[in-house]
Amino acid sequence: MATKKKKLSLGISVLLVVVVFESFVAAKTGLPDMQTTKDDNLIDFLPNQPEGVDFLQYSGYITVNEGKEIELFYYFAGATGDNPTSKPLILCFTGHEFPISSIASWGFQQYGPFRISDDGNQLTRNPHAWNQLANFIFVESPAGVGFSKAADPQFMMSVTRAIDIPYVYNFLFGWFERFPEFRNNDFYLAGQGSFGVSGPKLAQIILANNHMSNGTFINLKGLLIGNANFLLSPNADEQPETDYMWYYGMISDTAWSHPNCVIDPDVDDWDDDCMDFFMDKANMKQNFKYNIYQAQCPNVKPADVDPNSLYTGFYECFDYPVSLYLNTPSVQRSLHVESNGLYLWPTDPSGEYGTIPTFTATQANLLRFNWTVQSDWRPWFVNPLEVAGYAMTYKEGLTFATVRNSGSKVGLDQPERAFTIFKSFLDNTPLPSSPYFPFSS
Ligand SMILES: *[C@@H]1O[C@H](CO)[C@@H](O)[C@H](O)[C@H]1NC(C)=O
Ligand SMILES: *[C@@H]1O[C@H](CO)[C@@H](O)[C@H](O)[C@H]1NC(C)=O
Repeated sequence: MATKKKKLSLGISVLLVVVVFESFVAAKTGLPDMQTTKDDNLIDFLPNQPEGVDFLQYSGYITVNEGKEIELFYYFAGATGDNPTSKPLILCFTGHEFPISSIASWGFQQYGPFRISDDGNQLTRNPHAWNQLANFIFVESPAGVGFSKAADPQFMMSVTRAIDIPYVYNFLFGWFERFPEFRNNDFYLAGQGSFGVSGPKLAQIILANNHMSNGTFINLKGLLIGNANFLLSPNADEQPETDYMWYYGMISDTAWSHPNCVIDPDVDDWDDDCMDFFMDKANMKQNFKYNIYQAQCPNVKPADVDPNSLYTGFYECFDYPVSLYLNTPSVQRSLHVESNGLYLWPTDPSGEYGTIPTFTATQANLLRFNWTVQSDWRPWFVNPLEVAGYAMTYKEGLTFATVRNSGSKVGLDQPERAFTIFKSFLDNTPLPSSPYFPFSS
């Protein structure tokens, strides 16, 4: 069988889950940190930020456990325009199993108010910034990711442990103590990758606490998950990803049909032999991290910049300016970072292929929910003459959308399409159709 080189755009999975919850008044004992005030967290300016910044910025730490050894770091970018505090509030944290710095990746690389110049020195306004529509809290979790820290090094090292989600809830509780004016806002969770697991877990905790007694109620409206990795079965992702690579002409027929690589998603783990085979023959890691058409920066590796980097893969060119800027001492001072000796890195530290699922893998996971299709696969549009991606909606309240001609970093590759998705998500309206494509609505 001949390999097929499809030159169609690479779709990626952006998943929207819109869930509307009933209202309850509830309580939860928090961990107010009386020493730090909101004013302490105010950012006067970030080095080399552009003129005319018309939104509030705060950053600092919130203690999340009784023993006070874990402090999660956040960066808040307030909404622009009139009445910013009346706009929704989004808590963004990326990761869990495979944590990523949300401040670096979502904040300063993709959806936040600023973009960083290639030399890592200058900030410019992001014309598609999501804080035009909402207030953003980017939080680093767990401790050990980005600027979040723990007194006990054991907590710092355990970046892949699964017990940190209640800490994110405690973070939120502490944050509302510091910013009570946002308590009643429409509230959403956003993230990517294994946030497909941690996001719903946090939503569950919020809802359980909302129901429990009276006090703090969090007006949770929905979740937005990019590149959703649900980790439903041991390996529901792998066969669709292998097939995907074969369809794109990235692996040979031999690799595709290699017996070690035929996987029963409910039973098998990636066979080590298969993994080796792929690494050797398909150059998989290099080709397939964020975008199969992305050039690499083979001369710059994380270890060259940061000897303590946990990340072993290749350096993505677009990570370089973000790392440079956020690791500048004057920037960290402006952000109120208490240096923890960690080097902030916008990339998934595990460097594993499976952490960036193909959209086909996300689809395969969704099928396992056995949900009912309400509106089937259809194209959606920003420019009415050009398909921006495809979308489908389940009756259960979930919309699955792909973005054409984009790698995993949709905010970098297709910022206008990403913004359109975010707007539809907040408005709870279908993605735009086109009069030129009657079948699209
Ligand atoms: C809520 O608090 C009020 C006063 O603090 C109390 O009277 C009431 O019983 C509480 N309700 C519940 C459900 O705990
Ligand atoms: C979906 O349907 C299959 C086949 O009937 C079943 O084995 C599986 O348990 C169902 N999954 C869920 C989440 O209900």
